[in-house]
Amino acid sequence: RINLGETRPEVVKLGSGERTKEVDYASPDRGTRVKVFGRVHRERKQAQVLFVTLRDGFGYLQCVLTGPLAKTYDAVTLTRETSMMITGEMWEVPPGAHAPDNRELHADYFEIIGKAPGGDDAITNKVQEKGDPQTLLDQRHLVLRGEKAAAVMFVRSAVEHAFHTKYHELNYIKVSPPALVQTQVEGGSTLFEFDYYSEKAYLTQSSQLYLETALPFAGNVYCIEKSFRAEKSLTRRHLSEYTHVEAELDFITFDDLLNHLEDVICSVIDLVLAQPRINKMIHDLNPKFQKPSRPFKRMRYADAITWLNDHGINNEDDKPHEFGDDIAEAAERRMTDILDVPVLLTYFPVPIKSFYMTKDPEDERVTESVDLLIPGVGEIVGGSMRMHDYEELMEAYKRNGIPPEPYYWYTDQRRYGTSPHGGYGLGLERFLAWMCGQHTVRDTCFYPRYMGRCRP
Ligand code: 4AD
Repeated sequence: RINLGETRPEVVKLGSGERTKEVDYASPDRGTRVKVFGRVHRERKQAQVLFVTLRDGFGYLQCVLTGPLAKTYDAVTLTRETSMMITGEMWEVPPGAHAPDNRELHADYFEIIGKAPGGDDAITNKVQEKGDPQTLLDQRHLVLRGEKAAAVMFVRSAVEHAFHTKYHELNYIKVSPPALVQTQVEGGSTLFEFDYYSEKAYLTQSSQLYLETALPFAGNVYCIEKSFRAEKSLTRRHLSEYTHVEAELDFITFDDLLNHLEDVICSVIDLVLAQPRINKMIHDLNPKFQKPSRPFKRMRYADAITWLNDHGINNEDDKPHEFGDDIAEAAERRMTDILDVPVLLTYFPVPIKSFYMTKDPEDERVTESVDLLIPGVGEIVGGSMRMHDYEELMEAYKRNGIPPEPYYWYTDQRRYGTSPHGGYGLGLERFLAWMCGQHTVRDTCFYPRYMGRCRP
């Protein structure tokens, strides 16, 4: 039955919920006539009927092609990922049958827009559920069409939006610091260096130093920008390019910083879980996910060293941990997994932390620094109070072998009306790996970048 022109059907997006307009398809005498565009997510051919699940990024819709429509050449040879237009009537599914959003489109007309290959080149042969990870990364552009990979991208979008919302609610100003810089923040070993019109320059490791310079004109500030690290190790939580959520707070104490961190993280989780569609995706991806309860467990570095030794967890040289050791990834992970709650690990020793961190006035061996550790992932946040005394900062440059000249603009903060201030950086991909229960941060990136991979 082809009745195009009888009524001009409304073009609707698929799915239901926050992103799509409701279609009144359940009127008692007839379904609503609509026109939809999408790609074939799945198809199932039966003797007289062709079931097509159409996908348009907004949602999924089961479409039923019957009679002569199901016998056309295009219908008989229909392949997954083919893009098409379908018109028809939207009905509730009959009792006992199942379809996305409990509805289906009874097609009366369709047009193929772009055919997708079948046979060896069919998407199902290119992208196998349990395929080898490198092949799947080469085919990332196709993998993203799958429900699971796409769901992580939807959660990612919601989480990023929630951070913006939370900072907006707190009246923080957003700034956009440069990615091309001539200073380092987190040590020379992970700097990506490049030639900038014959000058040496780097891809930024963190926007922190620039954020600090925004405090005098903006008060509290934040940014969500890319950071780059030339990490020379292949781990499940290190990327070369990642999204860094960073904030800087003026006229605060270290305790204010810790409380703020808890507030931001819990609020972002609330904002994200309040969206039914995203909430369902998170729980499908990670059924165990729960918002942590406040206050978070707080633990001093020195106590963590004792804890590790009490639990027989050795350092990288397989010796008991000593005060001053960097707690390696494996030990940190074991501790967090045993504690099984988020931990604010604080007061790390001066030599293992960044040059700009303030010392604890009560114990000059340690800094007012914090890492937030999460079970299953490890460190997702690093933050600290920043030195605000000019002389102390000059000393720190010297101690760390950093030439102060390129940092004049950072140092000037201490000359023109200094203030006690602090901030932090949160790795968005690690936050997502936690929420979405992903084994590696690579699966939380649109297109991951890490040692050995810069394509597609
Ligand atoms: O602890 P980091 O190195 O701290 C800084 O960069 C500070 N300057 C941030 C600040 O205070 N504004 O990095 C902060 C967070 C880490 O906790 C981690 O979540 C993430 O950034 N991160 C990485 N994520 C993925 N791949 C990497 N190679 C990462 N390096 C750090």
